[in-house]
Amino acid sequence: MKNFNLSVALLFFIGLSGLQAQEKIPEVEELLSKMTLEEKIGQLNLLTPGGGVATGSVVSEDVEAKIKAGNVGGVFGVSSPEKVRQAQEIAVKSSRLGIPLLIGSDIIHGYKTTFPIPLGLSSSWDLELIKESAQIAAKEATADGINWNFSPMVDIARDPRWGRIAEGAGEDPYYGSQVAKAMVQGYQGENLTQPNTMMSTVKHMALYGAAEAGRDYNSVDMSRLKMFNEYLPPYKAVVDAGVGSVMTSFNDIDGIPASGNKWLLTDLLREKWGFDGFVVSDYTSVNEMIAHGMGDLQAVSALAINAGLDMDMVGEGFLTTLKKSVDEGKVSEEQITKAARRILEAKHKLGLLEDPYLYSDESRPEKDILTEENKKFARKAATRSFVFLKKHENTLPLAKNSNIALIGPLADNKNNMLGTWAPTGDPSLSIPILQGFKNVAPNATIKYAKGANISNDSTFAKKVNVFGERISISDKSSDALLQEALDVANASDIIVAVVGEATEMSGEAASRTDITIPDSQKKLIRELVNTGKPVVLVLMSGRPLDISEEMNLPVSILQIWHPGIEAGNAVADVIFGDYNPSGKLTATWPRSVGQIPIYYGVKTTGRPGPESGDFQKFKTNYLDSPNTPLLPFGYGLSYTSFEYSDVKVSSKEMSASASIEISATVTNTGNYDGEEVVQLYIHDKVRSITPPVKELKGFQKITLKKGESKTVTFTVTAEDLKFYNSQLEYVFEPGEFEFFIAGSSDAEFAGSFTLKK
Ligand code: BGC
Repeated sequence: MKNFNLSVALLFFIGLSGLQAQEKIPEVEELLSKMTLEEKIGQLNLLTPGGGVATGSVVSEDVEAKIKAGNVGGVFGVSSPEKVRQAQEIAVKSSRLGIPLLIGSDIIHGYKTTFPIPLGLSSSWDLELIKESAQIAAKEATADGINWNFSPMVDIARDPRWGRIAEGAGEDPYYGSQVAKAMVQGYQGENLTQPNTMMSTVKHMALYGAAEAGRDYNSVDMSRLKMFNEYLPPYKAVVDAGVGSVMTSFNDIDGIPASGNKWLLTDLLREKWGFDGFVVSDYTSVNEMIAHGMGDLQAVSALAINAGLDMDMVGEGFLTTLKKSVDEGKVSEEQITKAARRILEAKHKLGLLEDPYLYSDESRPEKDILTEENKKFARKAATRSFVFLKKHENTLPLAKNSNIALIGPLADNKNNMLGTWAPTGDPSLSIPILQGFKNVAPNATIKYAKGANISNDSTFAKKVNVFGERISISDKSSDALLQEALDVANASDIIVAVVGEATEMSGEAASRTDITIPDSQKKLIRELVNTGKPVVLVLMSGRPLDISEEMNLPVSILQIWHPGIEAGNAVADVIFGDYNPSGKLTATWPRSVGQIPIYYGVKTTGRPGPESGDFQKFKTNYLDSPNTPLLPFGYGLSYTSFEYSDVKVSSKEMSASASIEISATVTNTGNYDGEEVVQLYIHDKVRSITPPVKELKGFQKITLKKGESKTVTFTVTAEDLKFYNSQLEYVFEPGEFEFFIAGSSDAEFAGSFTLKK
């Protein structure tokens, strides 16, 4: 009995995922026993016949012949039940063993019903909403035949020059982990064999967001301590939550590209974390190890498979060289069998081995895609993603019968509503802001003028316009555009200017060294302010911007990211007060690019910057800028106001096995009902490695009616106080901890407690 209990406890300790890794699936083993080496290698090959957005320069050729020959494990860029059925038929009926295909896709923020970009969605601080967005995306995508998704991107990003900051949940390891889990749970549901769920891929393992100088695909060099404490937690969180696959990143880690990094893919991911799914490369990232300087195609392919990479995306290095490497003794057949097993296990998990046509139901698209219900959700999600950055003289919300000048190159512009990485969305279906205003406020007087080009720089515009015309430069001169805008403005009572970044000014391969609003639009903004009329800036971007200049103008600013298919309706809902904005930033906004990388969870250093913000010689500060950001992590305003009081801790001392409660009363002191994201930060005062000044440890989004108060309570245990020490052990250390509760990371000290030995 004793032994039995011990083994049960041990099983729990190992964790279910570790267990499953050891359990062999009879259908999979039977298939493997029949497979030739070439057929096993074929399962490791992922191709794209084109049709989707190809992000590299290579598109696969002769895909059909390769499927028939048993040389393909999966494809992406193929959608619709008919096309997917055709592809599966080729695999099932014409290849020797009839193994169905994985059908992949990049569904990053909604399938055809496009939601706000991930950075925007994360600003909602609403995990249920985020999970639901993934559920709806899964339902739509699987209706179109897709069973495997390349999302979520969980890379921590602290450098807004990096365009792909748009695709993640910002800078914080704790919050990023919560969002990542919600996404994976949303995509995968309870049971992957349900035809409305799909396998999720966490990407890009690892550290992709820390590319040097914010330049996409650049090198990363980072200490293990920083990795474990700040950059790896979101990947680990989704592995713990049962994500089906992991995608490697383009960058190197400790001098070895992720796709060939055995420490990363085997020692850490499989052995330490117990990951039992499969690892796929990024687009041609195996081949790119040649350019990284790791050898020729045969060498880098062998490096990748030996490191623990299972599937080669597009590059065909596995297909063309692994057999040779086995013959030459550079790769063992056992290694290839292991990888093939993982791919087949994924197909089993998805129910494909039982029914290859599970995701080919031709009646589904009409029922499940772009439904009114899904669009309604998209509108709601967008309103929740907006962040009210600056309040000026209570201009907002506007009355629905106002006389408005709606101005700006993004005000009536369908091409820029969906945001980056929305290849499955259709821009022509999106609601521009002008249309939304008319829908929500039919009694308002609305006069529109473009006012300026998004950018006047045609060379820049050409680079941005790779996937369609996002920046269109008008035939009219800048002066003529401006004059039209001023005429409209002067004939109105209030100006709403929709300005900022085009889609594809952020996203993949869209890094910027200057993250201000382009000059053409800055000039327009200044001229509009000079009219003396009240001005509201509706700001669109895929990254934190440097808006130091605009923050100093007498304007209100509403940040809307790229809001998705229902953009115009959602913006109008907030501008006209049907919804009171409640979003909070999940990445810090700098005063200038000179402050980057910038994030709230910094170390004090031995020479902390002066609290006053005034310059002091021989302290850590700049001659020409304060250390503080323009807008901190966690920041966002509301049409109403909130006051925090009565901050309490249930006990000044806590033992390692107990918990304490930290609470605060929050009161809505303004004139509107509203929502507040109450945030708890903790600072470990003394520990064996230098602690960050603050770490987010909990948050709650609450609704408060005008005048209402609520007490918000956080339970803290020793588990919440853990970190990786210099031996990379995950520990807590007794001592004093300070805490902060507020609606933003620039929270003031609120109290402390001691964790006893
Ligand atoms: C991106 C991935 C994406 C892949 C497939 C790559 O360029 O880095 O995030 O999943 O293409 O489309």
